[in-house]
Amino acid sequence: EGESTVSITVVGASGDLAKKKIFPALFALFYEGCLPKHFTIFGYARSKMTDQELRNLISGTLTCRIDQRESCDDKIDKFLKNCFYHSGQYNSEADFKQLDAKLKVHEGGRLANRLFYLSIPPNIFIDVARCASRSSSPAKGWTRVIVEKPFGRDSESSAELTTGLKQFLSEEQIYRIDHYLGKELVENLSVLRFSNLVFEPLWSRQYIRNVQFLFSEDFGTEGRGGYFDNYGIIRDIMQNHLLQMLALFAMEPPVSLDAEDIRNEKVKVLRSMRALHLEDIVVGQYKSHVRGGVKYPGYTDDKTVPSNSITPTFAAAALFIDNARWDGVPFLMKAGKALHNRRTEIRVQFRHVPGNLYKRSFGTDLDQATNELVIRVQPDEAIYLKINNKIPGLGMRLDRSNLNLHYADRYSREIPDAYERLLLDAVEGERRLFIRSDELDAAWAIFTPLLKELELRKVAPELYPYGSRGPVGAHYLAAKYNVRWGDMNVEEKV
Ligand code: BG6
Repeated sequence: EGESTVSITVVGASGDLAKKKIFPALFALFYEGCLPKHFTIFGYARSKMTDQELRNLISGTLTCRIDQRESCDDKIDKFLKNCFYHSGQYNSEADFKQLDAKLKVHEGGRLANRLFYLSIPPNIFIDVARCASRSSSPAKGWTRVIVEKPFGRDSESSAELTTGLKQFLSEEQIYRIDHYLGKELVENLSVLRFSNLVFEPLWSRQYIRNVQFLFSEDFGTEGRGGYFDNYGIIRDIMQNHLLQMLALFAMEPPVSLDAEDIRNEKVKVLRSMRALHLEDIVVGQYKSHVRGGVKYPGYTDDKTVPSNSITPTFAAAALFIDNARWDGVPFLMKAGKALHNRRTEIRVQFRHVPGNLYKRSFGTDLDQATNELVIRVQPDEAIYLKINNKIPGLGMRLDRSNLNLHYADRYSREIPDAYERLLLDAVEGERRLFIRSDELDAAWAIFTPLLKELELRKVAPELYPYGSRGPVGAHYLAAKYNVRWGDMNVEEKV
């Protein structure tokens, strides 16, 4: 049999995700020598395009990393020589048969493995899965299919999609991406917890007061309104990205680092969570705002959004895990678009020190004196722990300081994009960072009742100005659980 080869077909090759993320990630993997010696990349879409036109499209998206400049152009040329295009319909087995014939030529009789990246709207996932599986699957090597959210809009539609895909693919062949799992600091969560004695013993209701998962972007939907309006921020960010981080944060130690062991623990913790209802949530939507003579558009000013839309672009939620470790600890989430900054972080607020000897020396309120661990996922990755410290000098005055692991200072290496890690894992058959179907079901079970109530009662979102810190309702929600949002401390410097 000899050598094996891998063929990667990007279905929906001219789409935004393919251009922005997938092709650049494939190139980065090639550059790093992570792809097999023999590989072929195919773009597949309906529009007519020549191989050369696809190559031009791809090369327009590629940039070289600063530390790699020298031989970069060379590498780009080599990479592009392995890129081809096939035009076809998404539901035509005949068209995929033609693709199969072309792939065979490039595979040159080697043991062929094939990866399909479905960078297309979810309503055609099943068609493509059928065509790929019936007409473009090699007889001997593996066939794997990567899909990315939205996986339905609620429990039922998600289950339907799963059933549809499983008519043509086994669970082992389906790679469901949540690109937040490919982020460096998200992957590091388990390392932080399970390889450091100083953290894991504190990781429970005994010492942790609350945990916050925060996501903000300083731009609006900007032309993506057509997709977004049908989903909203809860489905776009919370049910997947923030919930995945929560699961990794809160799960019990897995038996091993094997994909099934880790995913078993994630499912367990998700299934221990209470379903959300209206009283656990605040929703908001950004409105236009003039600042410094510039007018920032409101959500409904987006041409792709109906003018009377009540889709939330912001949400804050309080979640609870009903297990022995986390009983009573609020897990708060906050996610929003068109806010004052772009940031994703996890904040862990610890309990008060009992019988604090230094109450007086602090001056300010006790709440300020508790420890807080911050895991800043992006931008400017960092992990820091806020501690109380004596201000040097003869008096006894304390202040807050940071024990700080700032990635840019500590590591000179550039952090790879999430899609690089995920694509590499898919090629290697490593499923640890992909979502299993029971995990997806458990995630939807938490959010579906709430999403239904929001739609049934047509809950109007609280409006907030573009570029602000979001609706005040979020503060009342947090206050209900005695929580203060950690990202509201304006004076915090890192
Ligand atoms: C996507 C959402 O999943 O994640 C987008 O659909 C969001 O709305 C994006 O902008 C954020 O990803 P990142 O990696 O830029 O934080």
